[in-house]
Order: sequence, then C-alpha cells, then structure tokens
Amino acid sequence: MSNNTLKHLALIMDGNGRWAKQQGLNRTKGHEAGAEVIRHITTYCATHPTIETVTLYAFSTENWKRPKYEVDFLMKLLARYLQSELKTYQEENIRFIAIGDTSKFSKTLRDQINSIEEKTKNNSSLTQVLALNYGGRDEIVRAVNTIIKNGQEVTESSIGMELDTPYQDIDLLIRTSGERRVSNYLLWQLSYSELFFTKTLWPDFGTAELITIIDEFIQRTRRFGGI
Ligand code: IPE
Ligand code: IPE
Ligand code: MG
Repeated sequence: MSNNTLKHLALIMDGNGRWAKQQGLNRTKGHEAGAEVIRHITTYCATHPTIETVTLYAFSTENWKRPKYEVDFLMKLLARYLQSELKTYQEENIRFIAIGDTSKFSKTLRDQINSIEEKTKNNSSLTQVLALNYGGRDEIVRAVNTIIKNGQEVTESSIGMELDTPYQDIDLLIRTSGERRVSNYLLWQLSYSELFFTKTLWPDFGTAELITIIDEFIQRTRRFGGI
C-alpha cells in the first residue's frame, strides 16, 4: 500500500501546434486554446487538498528557434494571459512565480511579470510557476555561477538553494502529446519524479484526465533508492 502525496506537479504542455493542424487552423490557434487549459488546470490544482505548486513549461530556451511570427505571437499571448489572469489569481488566492531567464524578454513583459509576482506574493492556496525562457541546463549553470560568485562551496544543497525556485522536488511530471522526453525541463528537480506520458494534445487535456493520472500516481511505489 503506497500513500504518495502529490505536492509538486509539473506539466510539459505539448501538442498545441498539432492540435491546430488537425483542425485545419494556424498553430497560433492551438496556443490560444492551450492557454485556456492552463486556467482550468490551475483552478483545479488550487482546490486540490495536497497540491502546493504547479509548474508549467510555457517557453523553453530552445523555442527561440521557431519562426519569428510564432515567437512574437507567444510573447503577446503571454502578456494577454497574465493580464487576464490577475483577477483569477486574486480570487482564487494563487501566487504567481516565473522561472527561467526572463532577462531576454521585453522590458514591458518583464515589468508585467514582476508586478504580478509582487501583487500575488502573499497568496497561499497554490503557487503557479510558469517556466519562461526556461532550460534546465541554463538554470543549473546560472545557479552554479551565483555560488562561485558568492565564494560558497558547490554542494547539492547550495545548488538547490540557488535554483530559480527554492529547492522543491517534483513529485509527478506529466507530458502531453505522446512525446516521451523531458526537453530540458527541470533537470535537477526531476531526479526522483514519477513520469507520466499521455497522447492527449495539450488543448484537449482536462481535469478529468489529470484526476485519473493522479490516481495512478498515488498507486505507484516510490523507492528513492531504498527497498
Ligand atoms: C507546446 O506546443 C507549446 C510550446 C512549446 C510553446 P507545441 O507548439 O510544441 O506543439 P507541437 O508540439 O508543435 O504540436
Ligand atoms: C517543450 O516542448 C517546451 C514547452 C512545452 C514549452 P517542445 O515542443 O519545444 O519540445 P520538443 O522540441 O518536441 O522536444
Ligand atoms: Mg511541441
């Protein structure tokens, strides 16, 4: 009998482009539909009895390789999403945090991110973390450089402390769209996570499927190297 507790859920929201293509739509429509799903999933997580943090992969350090119009669209969509979400964050007592190297974003977007982080910093039902220009390798490199600059010793604990979010392991990672890879996501924090891959494309993902996956997670045996 296992009794795993799900505190930190991570999601790789993949398949927006394929979803749009299936409907004969432009990829951007897939991203718009995907943003709606973030709202539903976050609201569900805020009411879940054990989930404290949900971390969503929104833009990777590799996603700059996409055509300029798509990158521009994603930046605008992010600004629009944050603008409309502030009300939800306040009503549902959700704290918003961004991880990743947002220094590459426009000043307007950075200001918007900082302002929402500040306005929601005392909210406590859930922390929603958006990974923006995020790469697991980049995060570890930045953490180690900070440690060296501070003249500290490099240890698992000091690296953990200098990561973008204070050290918090992922309990469960879900990737949608059928791809079975981590694509440079949370490399440090995934060490002992349970992984779950579903073929559902992100815009079709919903709370019903999330609940089914969480039920399976609870049944798994996590050994952490023990017996
Ligand atoms: C995930 O969907 C969203 C981002 C990476 C921003 P994709 O845009 O990767 O969709 P597919 O994988 O091309 O279907
Ligand atoms: C991972 O999806 C990044 C995000 C979901 C933001 P990608 O679609 O960029 O990953 P690959 O290229 O298929 O590995
Ligand atoms: Mg993809």
